Parts: sequence; structure tokens; C-alpha cells
Amino acid sequence: MTLQGKDLLGLLHKTESEIEYILDTAVPMKEIISRPLKKVPTLRGRTIVNVFYEPSTRTRTSFELAAKYLSADSVNISGSASSVVKGESLVDTARTVKALGADIIVVRHAMAGAAELMARTVSASVINAGDGAHEHPTQALLDMFTVREAKGTLKGLEVAIIGDITHSRVARSDIWGFSRMGARVRVCGPPTMIPHGIDTMGCKIFDKVEDALEGADVVIVLRIQNERQQQGLFPGLREYANMYGINSKRLGLAAPDALLMHPGPINRGVELTGEVADGQQSLIETQVTNGVAVRMAILYLLAGGGDANVPVD
Ligand code: CP
Repeated sequence: MTLQGKDLLGLLHKTESEIEYILDTAVPMKEIISRPLKKVPTLRGRTIVNVFYEPSTRTRTSFELAAKYLSADSVNISGSASSVVKGESLVDTARTVKALGADIIVVRHAMAGAAELMARTVSASVINAGDGAHEHPTQALLDMFTVREAKGTLKGLEVAIIGDITHSRVARSDIWGFSRMGARVRVCGPPTMIPHGIDTMGCKIFDKVEDALEGADVVIVLRIQNERQQQGLFPGLREYANMYGINSKRLGLAAPDALLMHPGPINRGVELTGEVADGQQSLIETQVTNGVAVRMAILYLLAGGGDANVPVD
């Protein structure tokens, strides 16, 4: 089996078998990163360039570590420290990075479609590490990997996504991904943060957070995306926490073995309390660890690896 195309730009067009293939490939990658010496020679001689025009802790670091654990050479470029500030375009940056020798370019950008534009420009593989409010496919893949690891399957699960759906690329990729894998997705947030037509993506919209949480197997809490919204979509952070914040009482409405997840970074006391973030049901740190394994799998597969040679040593 191989992935369709040279790039990973989103999950909208990914098939169930492609998603399963990535998740299956991440299993041996997780074993590698659990070793005291977490390094295999699989991508020796390959060059991976991370081009981040927006801040990131988890995604950028995990791509960098994933490349290093697979013995690839990796380089980071920050938008603010690059020739972008001198006026260089995205297309010219892509061409330059390719000319420098990149085999794979990982890009995060505030503009929806930025990764696709880069992918059309260069022959190198391009991975979308988040483009505006459009998609964040590697986050959704690590979310699915984390749930599958905990529950054994994604099929038939009730997944509740709570928060700022309109401005969230994670919500969009999670809805496509979990639905494609046979889960049922519910969304809930302030009406001003639920985009028109979201039900056409196959998810169910809930007005009251208590109704959305009732019996859910997975609760994915989203951050308020202050950087992507005009002000005034809700009265204030305290009101948001009162109406939609996830606390122990609200989490108690979900299934007794429900998983609590968040892509991070979290705003304690706003979208969730510290008590649930650090509680027994929280998989927030596991998501971060799994992000490295899933990104190793993606780099490996886009570099041409197949099921026959998944690295073990
Ligand atoms: N979840 C996520 O994308 O986190 P970062 O912004 O820290 O990469």
C-alpha cells in the first residue's frame, strides 16, 4: 500500500485505508521512541525543512524530533527570522527551500491553502502543519492514533468536540478523520463559533454543552483562537468558562471511561479546568508523545517507505 500523492495537505480526501495505514505505521514508531536509544537509520541522507510562519511548540518540535529519530537532517525556518520579512513570497520561499535540498517541507501558515500552494510549486513532498482555519491533518491523525490506542477502535465511538469550531483547523481535520473512520462526531460551542453548514460535514450540532457531552466516548476540547477571531464573539472568558468550560461535573456526563483530549496549548480555567486537564481521564500529554510517532510515520511514508520495511533497527 502507498499513500496517494506526494504530499499530506488535509484529511478531506484521505480514504479510510490510507488513514489506517498511517496509524498502523505509527505503532512501530512509538515502540522506537520508547527505547533508551531512540534512533534508526531509515531516513539517513534525507533533508526535512520545517517552515513555520506561526508560533508552535508541539508540532514543530515533534516534526524536528521525528526527523532526528529517523536519522534525517532537519532544519527549522521561522517566518519572523527569514527573508519573508524582506518581502519574499511563499512561492519563492518554497522554490528556495527546495533548491537548498529539501526532500520534505513541513509548513505552518496563517493562510488557508498555503501548504497546497507550496505543494503545487515544488516537487518536494509538502506536509501541512496547519493552514489558517482550514486543516491540521497531523493533529487529527495523532488524535485518532491516541483514541485507537486507548479504545482499540474508532468505529461507533461518539466524539464530542467542544469550543471554537469556526476558527479551528483541528476541528475540521478531526471531523473529516473521525467520521471517515466510522466514529460519530458532535460539535458544540457558542453559536457565533459554529460555522454555517458544518452539518454537511456529517457532524451533529448541539447548543447545550451538557447535551453534547451526554454519553460521549471522547471529549476533545478546543482552545479559544483569539488570534483568528474578531473580538466580541462571546461576552468574555468568564462567561465562556461558565457556559462551555469542561469541569469535573460536566465531564461526568460523558461515558464513565470517556477520554479527555485537547490539542494544546490549553487555557486552564477557560475551556477546561486544571482538575480535568490533569485528571485520570486526560490524555493530553499522551497526545503530545503520540504526535512524534505519528509524524515519524508520515515522514517515513512520504519518503517512500512501505509496509515491508517499517524500521525496527
Ligand atoms: N496542537 C498544536 O498544533 O500545537 P502547537 O501550536 O504548539 O504546534
